[in-house]
Amino acid sequence: MPKKMIHDFHAMKERGEKITFLTAYDFPTAQFAEAAGLDMLLVGDSLGMCVYGYAGTIPVTMDQCIAHADAVRRGAPGTFVIGDMPFMSYQSSSDGAVENAGRFLKEAAVDAVKLEGGVRVAPRIRAIVDAGIVVMGHIGLTPQSSGQLGGHKAQGRTLESARAVVADALAVQEAGAQMILLEAIPPEVGAHVARTLSIPALSIGAGAGCDGQLLIVSDMIGQFQAFTPKFVKKYCDVAGTVTEAMKRYVDDVRAVRFPAEDHCYHMLEGEREKFEAEFEL
Ligand code: KIV
Repeated sequence: MPKKMIHDFHAMKERGEKITFLTAYDFPTAQFAEAAGLDMLLVGDSLGMCVYGYAGTIPVTMDQCIAHADAVRRGAPGTFVIGDMPFMSYQSSSDGAVENAGRFLKEAAVDAVKLEGGVRVAPRIRAIVDAGIVVMGHIGLTPQSSGQLGGHKAQGRTLESARAVVADALAVQEAGAQMILLEAIPPEVGAHVARTLSIPALSIGAGAGCDGQLLIVSDMIGQFQAFTPKFVKKYCDVAGTVTEAMKRYVDDVRAVRFPAEDHCYHMLEGEREKFEAEFEL
């Protein structure tokens, strides 16, 4: 399958074909995702929780995001990869935003960058787009500013909040973003935004009426155990399967069932006798 690029995602929206999207943080997961035929991968700052065990995304740095994006790029060379701009990599100035977005392209060869916020980050989106970089906006529940939102709460559940979501979506598109991610908003608001915008509107907890779906891979494979958002569907139980395998390994080692003959390197023909004679075994 040839690698899909931004114009392909626009064409998929036109045709009503859903875009498939997952996060990935490492080389093997990126390989699995490419083999499974995912259209897009996000190297999300959720790696702070899913990989490093932080309580949230705030401590995540550009260097961490670049290192993980680089690994994902190598694991999925034929898949559209998006680098997620961590907290304070774009908030303070447009120059800083362009520089950090540029680092993602130069050091990890990503295809696009994502940043959180609507009306208030529109100038940053414009600056990055003007530097020739493809941008995905991200509105609704924006975890980096969850303090201001009163926690990790769904947005757009009142008319006033839904109006703000629509205004943010329009501002992101107007600023030149070529895709947008809608997080944790009611499906009727998600569907309205997807219909209203000309750019693909991807959903993570924004309902089936959007142009495609994103899940955090660690949730989707049952690896992340601290909490599970309502919008998650678990497709396997990695935590259970791996813990069970590790318990069996512990039992085998303690009972000297591992290693067995098959796992050993034997001495070359005739060498064992010489070895035993020399060491009087
Ligand atoms: O970092 C991430 O994975 C994200 C999702 C929560 C949308 O931004």
